[in-house]
Amino acid sequence: MDDLKAKYLSLIAAAGDEAQIEDLRIAALGKKGEISAAMRELGKMTPEERQTAGPALNALKDEINSALAAKKAALGDAALDARLRGEWLDVTLPSRPRRQGTIHPISQVTEEVTAIFADMGFAVAEGPQIDTDWYNFDALNIPGHHPARAEMDTFYMHRAQGDNRPPHVLRTHTSPVQIRHMEKFGAPCRIIAPGRVYRADYDQTHTPMFNQVEGLAIDKDISMANLKWVLEEFFAAFFEVDGIKTRFRASHFPFTEPSAEVDIQCSWVDGQLKIGEGDGWLEVLGSGMVHPHVLQSAGVDPAQWQGFAFGMGIDRIAMLKYGIPDLRAFFDSDLRWLRHYGFASLDVPTLHGGLSR
Ligand code: DAH
Repeated sequence: MDDLKAKYLSLIAAAGDEAQIEDLRIAALGKKGEISAAMRELGKMTPEERQTAGPALNALKDEINSALAAKKAALGDAALDARLRGEWLDVTLPSRPRRQGTIHPISQVTEEVTAIFADMGFAVAEGPQIDTDWYNFDALNIPGHHPARAEMDTFYMHRAQGDNRPPHVLRTHTSPVQIRHMEKFGAPCRIIAPGRVYRADYDQTHTPMFNQVEGLAIDKDISMANLKWVLEEFFAAFFEVDGIKTRFRASHFPFTEPSAEVDIQCSWVDGQLKIGEGDGWLEVLGSGMVHPHVLQSAGVDPAQWQGFAFGMGIDRIAMLKYGIPDLRAFFDSDLRWLRHYGFASLDVPTLHGGLSR
């Protein structure tokens, strides 16, 4: 019995995992185990022999059982410790957003533009990407045979013969949102309307789908001076250069009178474009005082209300700010491009927290 005890206690002490413990339990205490076999011998003993051997065997059995249980618990703790060491994680480390998806520059710039205009009291308005030709053209003072319709390379929606709903187009600009917003909410108003627009055009600086942001401010006494201030505030905040100069060039749009195209100050140094310095100019948007016909179409009385509007290419200002040379790459969904030009998903642009940092 002493031999059995010494043998099993040392085997248990040397066991390396829970499977070995189980094997030892079976070898000692299982049906065909050595201690079980010794127990069976008790039957063949004299009553006197049994009186000493019985309790001693039972004590041995208990001792082996508790040694097995203790070793099993110790091995379990060791396994848990090893797992905890292996899976250790410092939850105070910063996240690693570069390993995940990135925010597309168009989304980033849209957020930046929205943050800046929101700070000046502009709300965000939206309109449908498929709109009627009335909202896209007529209501904006572009009648049926106006050359601006042809210039826009409009995508017309297919119409089955006999379909007499008004013709629908993929909107060629965000300007129809002006009409829809004023129709619904009237004057005064102060909105921007970012979104997708469509024109049949494709080269390094044109894609059939691109993004614009429309601006509209209507009140009793809004003037071109307000337009100039708002745009200069915007460009300074967006390009993160104070005192950026703008140039207003007389132009023509059917929906504004007077109309102006706006350039921002820039320079070219060693083929590198710098915004907000030097004596070069870059055209960035169209603008003007909303035409009385446009107010009228939207049910706003032009005798009482007036204001400015502008339309700007989001993709274009994104290219300028982040040095992206080819517009088409925006819409290629090339992962390498997205990793290079994309933004960390947790850095939401705000004026106080920084737009692009
Ligand atoms: N809708 C014009 C375009 O897409 C841009 C534009 C010019 C919008 C002048 C305006 C504006 O609101 O006043 O080319």
